[in-house]
Amino acid sequence: MKSPIAVVVLAAGAGTRMKSALPKVLHPLANRPMLAHVLANAAALKPARIVGVIAPGATEVAKAFAPHPTVVQKRPLGTGHAARAALGALEGHRGPVLVVFGDAPLVTTASLRKLVAACARAGAAVGVLGFVARDPTPYGRLIVEDGELLRIVESKDADATERTVAFSNSGVMCIDGKLIASLLGALRNDNSKREFYLTDAVRLAREAGQKAIAVAGEEAEFQGVNSRAELAVAEQALQQRLRAAAMAGGVTMTDPGTVWLSADTKFGTDVRIGPNVRFGPAVSVGSDTVINAFCDIEGVRIGRGVLVGPFARIRPGSEVADGVHIGNFVELKATRMGKGAKANHLAYLGDSDIGAGSNIGAGTIAVNYDGYGKHRTVIGPDVFIGSNSSLVAPLKVGRGANVTAGSVVTEDVPADGVAFGRARQVTKKGRATALRAKLQDRAAAAKKAASERSGNK
Ligand code: UD1
Ligand code: MG
Repeated sequence: MKSPIAVVVLAAGAGTRMKSALPKVLHPLANRPMLAHVLANAAALKPARIVGVIAPGATEVAKAFAPHPTVVQKRPLGTGHAARAALGALEGHRGPVLVVFGDAPLVTTASLRKLVAACARAGAAVGVLGFVARDPTPYGRLIVEDGELLRIVESKDADATERTVAFSNSGVMCIDGKLIASLLGALRNDNSKREFYLTDAVRLAREAGQKAIAVAGEEAEFQGVNSRAELAVAEQALQQRLRAAAMAGGVTMTDPGTVWLSADTKFGTDVRIGPNVRFGPAVSVGSDTVINAFCDIEGVRIGRGVLVGPFARIRPGSEVADGVHIGNFVELKATRMGKGAKANHLAYLGDSDIGAGSNIGAGTIAVNYDGYGKHRTVIGPDVFIGSNSSLVAPLKVGRGANVTAGSVVTEDVPADGVAFGRARQVTKKGRATALRAKLQDRAAAAKKAASERSGNK
């Protein structure tokens, strides 16, 4: 039987290079905090516990760890010192302990699993994920001999030969839970940075007659986030993964590089997405739905066989049933559209319920705001709203009713009612010729006056 895993997430670093009031690990990637990615990837291992290590006063970070417990590292004295702070929370845990960084959101569950499995197979007390760095300057170097990891040398402490080693430490470490307390307890800060290095656990394990190993992975996966520029690099990497996963699940994308997803975006099969579409948080899209170019979609459940866009905007709190059409320059906000309802062109539908089968004409506005509060517009099924209508909320339009084009509707319309909310048209027969003559005379007089004025000069 496999022993249960524990995960320790180090997140007590200052993150000064972000130049931000927001703690580094809370900066969003694919619309969720960086830390949430780290936690999700760790949680997929089904660990017995996850423990966060945070800086004093980092209450927002502690909240982001919840329901997982956090411990406070009182002073930032190094990665080993941070891991040591978690020992109390690991009491009684005998299985492997994975130590990961809160600012390395791209490390996959597969790599974590690979490391744990390799340690178990080799009977290693300590294992690390390593990679061959294009530029190893900032990293600790993995000194390997005959397949065993001898030690990790931090860049600043490395000698000339060690500095030529490109095999680098990702920071992800797996430590035997039965030995972790004694290994971390023995760490010293007798190095150039006067820090307690987690990486020294390798040398200490070997000195205690234990084995240490390094498992190689891809550099891209171990990219940490220390600056806004690196945040953007991580965003690109995550977007590529999300797009690839969506396509593997049966989504067609005309130009994948221009489709921006959230970590929680969900798709059915045979969804087609045009270029330049952004999915904000909390969107699910049913099968056979088409999302055309240049749409911005957030906080909505979209049904099957729906047509959206081009140039549509759907804002949070919306619900779009099967077979709905939402056309160009249509904006929805906290609006439910029933089965087969259509708003094909140029409409603002805010705080509205649109019944099944209803048709919303071009230029319709749900007038939901009176300067103080928001009000709902409730439209029954099979209603016809003529073009260029203002529906002044709060308003109810009953089943099968008809609002004539150009109406400003301020009173409820009962089922099957027809509402005229516009001035009555006046038509004068045979008067167009006379009107033309009058307009021509007026234009000629104006021209004559202008030429006399310039002649007088
Ligand atoms: C660390 C590794 C290095 C590795 C590199 C990979 C050590 C000594 N060095 O170096 O071998 O190549 O990561 O990026 O482990 N943290 C705390 N408390 C502290 C210090 C750090 O919680 O006192 C946390 C940080 O928030 C961060 C992580 O630990 O999430 C790594 O810290 P960082 O200072 O970036 O370590 P490096 O010097 O980059
Ligand atoms: Mg670092």
